[in-house]
Amino acid sequence: MANQIVNKNHYFDWAATSPCDAEILRSALETTIEKWGNPSSVHTAGKEAREIFEDARKLCGKVLGVPAEKLYFTSGGTESDHIPILSVLNRPQKGHLLFSSIEHPAVREQALAVYGIHEPGHQGWFDRRCCICGYLPRR
Ligand SMILES: Cc1ncc(COP(=O)(O)O)c(C=O)c1O
Repeated sequence: MANQIVNKNHYFDWAATSPCDAEILRSALETTIEKWGNPSSVHTAGKEAREIFEDARKLCGKVLGVPAEKLYFTSGGTESDHIPILSVLNRPQKGHLLFSSIEHPAVREQALAVYGIHEPGHQGWFDRRCCICGYLPRR
C-alpha cells in the first residue's frame, strides 16, 4: 500500500459535466462528418441532418418518457437556464418569480437583469414564510 500511488482526486461535479461514453462520441463524430448540414437549412444536406436530429429527439423522448416535441436541445447549461427565464416574460399571465442569490451565476445574472433577486434568510435557507414574502413583482 505504501508503494502504491494513491489518486487523491475525487470529482463530484457531475451536474456540470461528466465523461462521455467513447462509443457515443465516435458515433456523434461520424454523424457530424457524414451529415454535416445545418438542420435548420432547407437544402438537401440540411434536411438530412434534420432527419438525424429528429430521430435523436424521438429516441431521447422515448428513453426519458416524455413527448419528443417537448424536448429542446441546447448548446449548454447557460442557454438552458435562460430559455425558461426569458420565456416567462412572454406569458400573458401576470405572476411572480423567485430567484435566490445563491443560484448558479448563469441563472443569477439573468434573473438580476430581468427580474431582481431575493436574498436568502438566515444561514442561506429559504423558509416557507421567506419565500412567500420574497416573491418579487415582475418588472
Ligand atoms: C445550473 C447551471 N447553469 C449553467 C452552467 C454552465 O453551463 P455551460 O458552461 O454549459 O453554459 C452550469 C454548469 O455547471 C450549471 O450548473
